[in-house]
Amino acid sequence: MPGPILIFDSGVGGLSVTAALRARLPTATLDYVCDNAMLPYGTKADAWLVSRIVATCTSAVRASGAAGLVVACNTASTLALRELRARLAIPVVGTVPAIKPATRLSTSRVIGLLATSATVNRAYTQTLIDEFAADCRIVRVAADGLVGEAERQLAGLAPDDGVLEAALAPLWAQPTLDTVVLGCTHFPLLRRRLEASAPRTINWVDSGAAIARRVVDVFDTSGYAQGREGRAWASAPSARLAATLAGYGFTSLEALALPAETLTLPR
Ligand code: DGL
Repeated sequence: MPGPILIFDSGVGGLSVTAALRARLPTATLDYVCDNAMLPYGTKADAWLVSRIVATCTSAVRASGAAGLVVACNTASTLALRELRARLAIPVVGTVPAIKPATRLSTSRVIGLLATSATVNRAYTQTLIDEFAADCRIVRVAADGLVGEAERQLAGLAPDDGVLEAALAPLWAQPTLDTVVLGCTHFPLLRRRLEASAPRTINWVDSGAAIARRVVDVFDTSGYAQGREGRAWASAPSARLAATLAGYGFTSLEALALPAETLTLPR
């Protein structure tokens, strides 16, 4: 039987893709790793982030015995996928903003991209837009504050509606915008609140289903039988995080072992 599928994110954002993965692979063992000591990733320096992401994933893959890694983080995927694939001996599926599916839904051809500041500015994102959305106007909105609000919500606290409203205002200033790409895996966790704040009906597009499809295509998922319970690792484990993860089927949480040189942010 293949080893677990390990889901990685900076924080709880990767939990937004677990339902889609479980729907496609109900008997696979899913494990989870998050680098919550360094949240949010979207505002950190690229070069440091690459080594931190590689160290985090390498350590967790070893601990989990994972047979495949899902980088359930746009900010990490648009930066470090190549490096991860070079350094890990298992298949790696990444997450990129769902620009292409959004173009299939938009009638007005005005599409919002709601993501971290890193993701909205990355060359990877520009290439996606050039390739798949050349006939659309993409309104890029950096919404790093929503990462913290999604974390708050999953910790059982109420998100700050003021932060949500301020983050979304640039989208609603576009009268013909009809589709919004949730280009950060934290944002689907706020979906109900995002919908409630919209002044009209919007097509909300996230990457969950596409990631699950890709996993089935890329990983050897043929031999999955009922596996063990999901385990989790975090760079800053806490009782609160353990309770949140348990709610998503990850029943044990351990501290992640990381090399000393990745432990502090560069000055
Ligand atoms: N969940 C991550 C993403 O999809 C980002 C959160 C962060 O900035 O740490 O981009």
